[in-house]
Amino acid sequence: MSKEPSLTGQLGACHRQLDEIFLLHQEALIQGQLQNAVGILHSYESCHTLHRQFEDDVLLPVYAGLEQPGKWNATLYQQEHQKIGELYSRIEEGLHELMGQSLDPSQMRRNIIHLLDREKSFKGLCEHHQEREEQSLLIELDRQTDTYWRSAVMETFSAQWRQTLEKEMENIRSCSEGRN
Ligand SMILES: [Fe+2]
Ligand SMILES: [Fe+2]
Repeated sequence: MSKEPSLTGQLGACHRQLDEIFLLHQEALIQGQLQNAVGILHSYESCHTLHRQFEDDVLLPVYAGLEQPGKWNATLYQQEHQKIGELYSRIEEGLHELMGQSLDPSQMRRNIIHLLDREKSFKGLCEHHQEREEQSLLIELDRQTDTYWRSAVMETFSAQWRQTLEKEMENIRSCSEGRN
């Protein structure tokens, strides 16, 4: 098996971890634990921001200059990052609105369903975006860049990612145990 540093492998693993955090947020949401749901959503955003910034600042400029262009251009990924940010803000707003309302249990459940519907579009966009990254951005960088460059950028990013993930998972545990 190859020991080559793989952006596809490493960033793909980040995608799965982000998806898992979002699911934890949704678990809290369907149980009506809104404070917990918002805490986990913020942890998701911290991890996602670090991930997105690494792609925007480090990977996309190199991808844009590759000799053999990938299937999708760098601008598309940047636009998707922006769209993901916009949809995220709408979800956060919706959740804060819900927290400020005093509703009977049935209406609260219906409003939660409404928010979950909004989150479905967000998840769909993230899923397609991640697929496009794994099918072009990451795979082309793995194919066309220098091993030393990939090792160096991944070493820095991995250390930051581990640290952030550890901190946010602790926050999520605190939310779940009602310590926040
Ligand atoms: Fe991305
Ligand atoms: Fe990504």
